[in-house]
Amino acid sequence: MSPVLLSLAALCWGAVSPEPTIQCDSEPGPSPEWMVRHTLTPGDLRDLQVEPVKSSAAMEDYSILMNVSWRLRADASIRLLKATKICVTGKGDHQSYSCVRCNYTEAFQTQSRPSGGRWTFSYIGFPVEPSTLYFIGAHNIPNANMNEDPPSMSVNFTSAGCLDHIMKYKKKCIEAGSLWDPDITACKKNETTVEVNFTTSPLGNKYMALIQNNIVIGFSYMLENQPPTRASVVIPVTGESEGAVVQLTPYFHTCGNDCIRRKGTVVLCPQTGRSILGGWLPLFLSALLVATWVLVVVIYLMWKHERTKKASFPTTTLLPLIKVLVVYPSEICFHHTVCYFTEFLQNHCRSEVILEEWQKKKIAEMGPVQWLTTQKKAVDKVIFLLSNDVSSSCDNTCGQREGSPHESSQDLFPLAFNLFCSDLRSQTPLDKYMVVYFRDADIKDEYSALSVCPKYHLMRDAAAFCTELRVKQPGSGGKRLTACFL
Ligand SMILES: *[C@@H]1O[C@H](CO)[C@@H](O)[C@H](O)[C@H]1NC(C)=O
Ligand SMILES: *[C@@H]1O[C@H](CO)[C@@H](O)[C@H](O)[C@H]1NC(C)=O
Ligand SMILES: *[C@@H]1O[C@H](CO)[C@@H](O)[C@H](O)[C@H]1NC(C)=O
Ligand SMILES: *[C@@H]1O[C@H](CO)[C@@H](O)[C@H](O)[C@H]1NC(C)=O
Ligand SMILES: *[C@@H]1O[C@H](CO)[C@@H](O)[C@H](O)[C@H]1NC(C)=O
Repeated sequence: MSPVLLSLAALCWGAVSPEPTIQCDSEPGPSPEWMVRHTLTPGDLRDLQVEPVKSSAAMEDYSILMNVSWRLRADASIRLLKATKICVTGKGDHQSYSCVRCNYTEAFQTQSRPSGGRWTFSYIGFPVEPSTLYFIGAHNIPNANMNEDPPSMSVNFTSAGCLDHIMKYKKKCIEAGSLWDPDITACKKNETTVEVNFTTSPLGNKYMALIQNNIVIGFSYMLENQPPTRASVVIPVTGESEGAVVQLTPYFHTCGNDCIRRKGTVVLCPQTGRSILGGWLPLFLSALLVATWVLVVVIYLMWKHERTKKASFPTTTLLPLIKVLVVYPSEICFHHTVCYFTEFLQNHCRSEVILEEWQKKKIAEMGPVQWLTTQKKAVDKVIFLLSNDVSSSCDNTCGQREGSPHESSQDLFPLAFNLFCSDLRSQTPLDKYMVVYFRDADIKDEYSALSVCPKYHLMRDAAAFCTELRVKQPGSGGKRLTACFL
């Protein structure tokens, strides 16, 4: 038989028993069937299901679509069924809404398939974004009349995050660092230090590592060169670190502050060969002495060489020059404001920063007033950090602001302000105090006494601020106000 005859035969056979298929198209508005009254409407659908599928389309932006499938109820009302409409609402970073109408190409002649089983259809469409909750609703057309129960069905579907084995190839995820494998290893060296190693990414050179054991016990910002390399950083901690979580936050230029954060666990560092040393100890020690001497010379030479090179962007490993106590009101957004300010002080002004947040245990032991008085004596500057940036979405990456900010321990800001006021009254030089704010914040009335302190608007006054931090300026004698009521 020739191919022409074959296809002709197929055509005839098809005409005898045409099986309905679907033809789908976007229909964002109401279906035309809404406008007319129907005496009879089809039954609802069954087994609405959604699963993500990879589309075989473009290589660079791997797109993920929904496979929406449904079955039809096997009853006589199926003869009335013309179409099924599916609408999807997505609630992720952005809200999305779209609808598709699938027309059945033929009227249904039988309640179930000629081959047996229910009528089953599936539609592949609706792009899927990572970490998004989707509400998928479907109903049959002609739909119920106004004020009648609509024959519809809905399911929820939450898409996987950027680290999912399929999702990670999406462009958006790649830009957020989904393909980066940091391979984090971290170990407790001793009671006060943790060593963290990780592989850097070609996407960027700036990272923050945070050690968290319920509360944050240590953190460090890092600038790494020539990625990808294995970076190693030793982080001072203020609490028990075995079993603690290391959170590594990258700041890539492609995703800024919204890059994917990675986690690791702190284990005990392996104790290196004590038994091997035994009899060889004297020999080993003298070898060590020579090696140390050579190392010192080498490090000194390298340091001399690096000093000029690194001056513009000193890393956290340099010895801090200025001790700074930062106090801030409890409603401030800790991560967005305090952490970034701390980073700025450490990286750009060569300061050692003391924060209430890192010293909770000490404060509890000493009492907040005693702690503040001691710190005030020990530090070079006390900075009041003000911000009106309270509404912006705060996350608790820095870990400890669970629940209401006020319920966690004492709010040190009013205490520090009182301390400042007593200095103001007792004519003590005020050159230790500075006020820093982000955005154009007015100093609140209750703290108006602070207006005698030098004020800096970051990042606008960044250079002046760093310079001021180093300068011992005379007390601002004549300008004293009597705005301290507390
Ligand atoms: C489905 O049917 C409706 C109403 O008859 C029509 O307006 C629409 O264009 C059809 N859609 C497709 C994809 O055939
Ligand atoms: C879509 O889902 C249906 C029902 O589960 C299945 O039969 C079909 O093969 C799926 N399509 C794809 C492309 O995965
Ligand atoms: C879908 O999620 C919403 C909100 O989370 C919930 O109210 C609804 O009951 C869920 N529906 C289904 C079918 O799970
Ligand atoms: C980190 O890397 C150094 C070598 O660069 C190695 O000696 C150390 O054991 C590593 N630490 C961890 C926790 O993997
Ligand atoms: C812990 O180790 C660091 C560096 O390895 C060292 O500077 C520090 O003194 C040690 N602390 C204790 C308590 O042994």
